[in-house]
Amino acid sequence: MKILIVGSGGREHALGWKLKQSPLVTEIIAAPGNPGLAELGRCVAIKADDARELAAFALREQIELVVIGPEAAAAAGLADALRQVGIPCFGPTKAAAELEASKAFMKEFCVRHGVPTAEYKVFDDAIRAKAYLGDREPPFVIKADGLAAGKGVVIAETRREADAAIDEILFLRKFGTAGQRIVIEDFLPGEEASFFALCDGETAVPLVAAQDHKRAYDQDKGPNTGGMGAYSPAPIFTDAVRDQTMEQIILPTLRGMKAEGRPFVGVLFAGLMITPAGPKLIEFNVRFGDPECQTLMRRMKSDLAPVLLLAAQGQLAGAPKIVWDEQPAVTVVYAAQGYPDEPLKGSVIRGVGQANDVPNVVVFHAGTRVDSDGLLRADGGRVLNVTATGPTLLDAVNSAYEGVSRIDWPGGFCRRDIAWRALS
Ligand code: AMP
Ligand code: GLY
Repeated sequence: MKILIVGSGGREHALGWKLKQSPLVTEIIAAPGNPGLAELGRCVAIKADDARELAAFALREQIELVVIGPEAAAAAGLADALRQVGIPCFGPTKAAAELEASKAFMKEFCVRHGVPTAEYKVFDDAIRAKAYLGDREPPFVIKADGLAAGKGVVIAETRREADAAIDEILFLRKFGTAGQRIVIEDFLPGEEASFFALCDGETAVPLVAAQDHKRAYDQDKGPNTGGMGAYSPAPIFTDAVRDQTMEQIILPTLRGMKAEGRPFVGVLFAGLMITPAGPKLIEFNVRFGDPECQTLMRRMKSDLAPVLLLAAQGQLAGAPKIVWDEQPAVTVVYAAQGYPDEPLKGSVIRGVGQANDVPNVVVFHAGTRVDSDGLLRADGGRVLNVTATGPTLLDAVNSAYEGVSRIDWPGGFCRRDIAWRALS
């Protein structure tokens, strides 16, 4: 099988690393890829959201499966373009990607199909939005409707902060057209988990859960990020919670999307709040989580290639059961100084090879480049993902930080408390 992986982050490197181990896979090509993916196969300089160019490339190269990494590629209609040329694609159509691309669509969909989520209202008018807050209690949850790289959500403790957030999004257009509308919703107390299910439009196969760390600094301080680390399994996500999540959230969504003429193919990522009343949906993503995916790939024992192909072909019902390593896995994100606001690019990174020499450690590239001088440099916000497995979560965490300590990168920082909740 000749596979094209679309994207350039740590998630895509981890998918490539896993797919490369499949006896069915003959070649891995990544677009645009990164230096980590370049070690596994070829990288081609086509942007992830250039659907036409990617479909033309896939046709020319006789690609047998395209795996979509980032939501931008799905939202740009890559799966639709590939369908036109008859190439199997693991990832949703543009219409199905609305589940992530519009929070208003997602919330309205949940109401139509009885999926448990926080009470909400949609606004395009700042005055009405502020008036709505008038008879509500803090904290206030305010979200830009569209894609904002995980940064479009404000949890405001006071009315003043909430009003400022409304103005910034609706009026000052902090997130551009993603902020033409906002969703204001009730605050859900509880602990969060990320859960993933493979979908072929009709059938869903549960994967496992992970927990992410959204804030930039230790003790969950600092600004929201795309994720500073993850671990799997998530102790809070028991088998009972998983079954509830499948019954109440994943399966109704799959049925509803099909009934509405937007069958969902790809990985459905439910961002959940585990409340005393059961799991509630915070958000849907239409792709693997990053850095959650990296921990999942370290734990998956089964061959990933055939299940992704079966999902793309609408044949998941006949898929073999996916087997997981009981051992926990953890990802520590090594980010560039200044992330998430203004990450400094270009600083030199040494010692990735030494980190990979630590037993049970695998380093994935997330935002790196190699210049003509042969040196590895930071080229993004989240730059490296140091992953580890171990007999216990603490062993995995210790190995990951041993890996981090071998990397010589003054331009980077990472959280030192990944998995604290599960360890304490
Ligand atoms: P989202 O981009 O929708 O996942 O939101 C980002 C983060 O904001 C989530 O991971 C939660 O930590 C928090 N959040 C979002 N919505 C809520 C809510 N209704 N109640 C509590 N926390 C929330
Ligand atoms: N780590 C959360 C996400 O990928 O959106």
